[in-house]
Amino acid sequence: MDITFINVGYGESILITENDPEAQNGTFVMLIDGGSAMDSEYAGESGRIRACDYLKKHHIDHIDLLVFSHVHEDHVCGLVPVVSGIPVRKYWASIRLKDEVIGKQIGGLETLSETNKKMLSSINAYSSLIEKIPAADIDYLDGIKEKYFKSGDFSIDILGPDLSYKKSVEASLANVFAAGDAVALDKALTETTEMMNNASLILRINCCGKSVLLGADTNAEGFKSLVKEHPELMKADVFKIGHHGQADAVNETLLRAADPSVVVCCASNDYRNDSSNEKTFETIKRTLGRNVTYLFQDGLYAEQWNPDISPRNGVTVHIDELGISWSLA
Ligand SMILES: [Fe+2]
Repeated sequence: MDITFINVGYGESILITENDPEAQNGTFVMLIDGGSAMDSEYAGESGRIRACDYLKKHHIDHIDLLVFSHVHEDHVCGLVPVVSGIPVRKYWASIRLKDEVIGKQIGGLETLSETNKKMLSSINAYSSLIEKIPAADIDYLDGIKEKYFKSGDFSIDILGPDLSYKKSVEASLANVFAAGDAVALDKALTETTEMMNNASLILRINCCGKSVLLGADTNAEGFKSLVKEHPELMKADVFKIGHHGQADAVNETLLRAADPSVVVCCASNDYRNDSSNEKTFETIKRTLGRNVTYLFQDGLYAEQWNPDISPRNGVTVHIDELGISWSLA
């Protein structure tokens, strides 16, 4: 199994491929999120690449499973050009929109703050993406479902989101669609964006006796009930830490439960929005207390800071019978 954390700047897009004789061209292809759609995210930054361009460059001609982790611009908007160019067989999502608003586009972008403009763009993109998917092709997931997907030695556990987070966000999204004026829209968008991260889908991918924990923007608080009630499900050899490595990404309890040997951070190389926070990495080093491999999606941080390499298109973790290795994409 190969897991590539594509360098989409401040955002996240994760490509997973696994040999499968029954899949098209012998490869099972899974994509979690598509990064941002904003031109500014890619302009003038070496190494950064749109998810759609990365897939094209690597001749990905089908997607067996596409996952919408949650509805934020830096995760969902880059999926629009992906699905228009590559056939997708099955979708997973966490957030369910009410039937009557699917496909609806909300106006009034001009008067909003930058944060709420992004929130609204992502809701409109999600709404239009969901509209095009036949109901039978999408599963809405939450809670714990061990081995929800299984093919040979490859399986996926659904570990979250916690239903309470998901319900709160869905109610808040309903307020966005129901907002009667600019003030109500602004308020509903602010509430939605603040709650959204912990409504992210949490997946644990298992292959060759190893596990990879992927929780999108779920922070330490969002993992809290899972860690408390099901610590046995938290063990992961590879942990892609949440929320781009911001200060709220991890705490000692979460790290002890996951106990990874490889930590991946999807942060942009300008470390915007407090991504890859120094304290986060101090907590990881202090808690795990042994050698951990650190990988960043731009390839700049690999075991130690390496200023001599240029940002790359991504970093790939390989998992096979021999163990875990990685390379720059
Ligand atoms: Fe994010």
